[in-house]
Amino acid sequence: MNNENEANEQPFPDQKTFGTIQSPRGMHDILPEDQPYWECIRDVVRKEAAAYNFERIDTPILEATPLFTKGVGQGTDIVEKEMYSFKTKGGDALTMRPEGTASVVRAYLEHGMPNRPSPIKLYYIGPFFRHESPQKGRFRQFHQIGFEILNSASPASDAEIIQLTYGLLSKLKIKNITIQISSLGDNESRVPYLEKLRAYLREHAASLPADCKKKLRTRPLAIFDCKEEKALRVAQNAPKIIDNLSKASYTHFKQVLEMLDELELPYNVNPLLVRGLDYYTRTVFEIWKSNDEDGEARNIALGGGGRYDNLIQMLGGPVATPAGGVALGIERLVEMMKSEGVELKNTQKPTVFLAQLGFDAKKRSLKLFDELRKQGIIAVASFDRDSLKSQLKQADRYGVLYTLMLGQKELLDGRIILRDMATGSQEILKLANITKEIKDRLKKH
Ligand code: HAM
Repeated sequence: MNNENEANEQPFPDQKTFGTIQSPRGMHDILPEDQPYWECIRDVVRKEAAAYNFERIDTPILEATPLFTKGVGQGTDIVEKEMYSFKTKGGDALTMRPEGTASVVRAYLEHGMPNRPSPIKLYYIGPFFRHESPQKGRFRQFHQIGFEILNSASPASDAEIIQLTYGLLSKLKIKNITIQISSLGDNESRVPYLEKLRAYLREHAASLPADCKKKLRTRPLAIFDCKEEKALRVAQNAPKIIDNLSKASYTHFKQVLEMLDELELPYNVNPLLVRGLDYYTRTVFEIWKSNDEDGEARNIALGGGGRYDNLIQMLGGPVATPAGGVALGIERLVEMMKSEGVELKNTQKPTVFLAQLGFDAKKRSLKLFDELRKQGIIAVASFDRDSLKSQLKQADRYGVLYTLMLGQKELLDGRIILRDMATGSQEILKLANITKEIKDRLKKH
């Protein structure tokens, strides 16, 4: 039995044996050991955003449901199956944001940003929610980094977003990535093309799986997202939007590719790329990383984006406003950094352990802690342990460089014992000078 004044020293049993409440399916804790990866990603994002002149925006987790039904599109998987939507006690229909672009557009219109010098360049980092079947790399709560350029029609903006994304991944030391790119055209290309595609799909309806066929009634482009073998064959031979672009969309796409060539960014024009959200026009792209899983190569999308020239008007904007952007999944980035063997030091590692014996020493230690903290030295103690042996065991577990020992006698003499944990050697030093002494020694490490 533990004394109520002491910390629990018993080995902790496996959680499964005592069964407390667990986190919801597909929603995970980000543990301290993973935080250096998250911090590194956030840090790189902040620096890149500043270098490209993107300003940070944070939007609410909850939005009015019609923002997404209108913005992302009625027939999409996100709206049809994956939104966490509910009615509040006050009767409002709200949804936990499944993506960030529609929210950024709402904020852009709500705060009169069209009146600011354009283009408006915004970025965000935060949690998003989709009720998907959880699997490797697919969660119900996940985090995205997003960049949006509003009110720019130039192909240079598309190229800039891809350049920024590619550079970010290089900075995170994620290798072997490919840029998959295509164009979904503008309204002028889309209307006659969809006629053609519908006619083709009607001809091949017999060889399509039932749930796929249902989707195609509202979103014929979804044929390119159907994963079943039979559908894949139909998709391979279907007319492609990229071969049916209007002159303006064709020129735009060609210019984007020329810019990527100039930037020496490797890309693959992929006519089957359609993206799962309805708001895209013209350029669409995804960043794929090929991952070997049990000997089977699988492509994982680290990020995706493109142009959405109609979205701002669709969400109530009074004038046509071209825009484009990208979002990357942070969990997937962390996984890739780990599988690439990127090692990150925990910068919060303590360097000093403060062992104290007796009440007066404990009291003085609190003050000493403050002095050390002011000098930027991370120190730890175990105030719940009274024996020196057990405190030194803790110091070993923390892996600190030095342990300071303060007892009644040292306190009376105005001294403190410093133990070098690597050599085990001990020195008695002046308590009044100890912070400076440690600082000097740490500098030499
Ligand atoms: P998205 O392709 O739906 O695009 O998501 C972008 C990235 O978020 C994906 O490539 C993936 O890395 C990550 N992601 C998506 N769903 C999940 C999930 N369930 N679990 C883990 N990671 C996930 C968008 O959201 C658009 N708003 C991107 C955009 C910005 N387009 C223009 N501007």
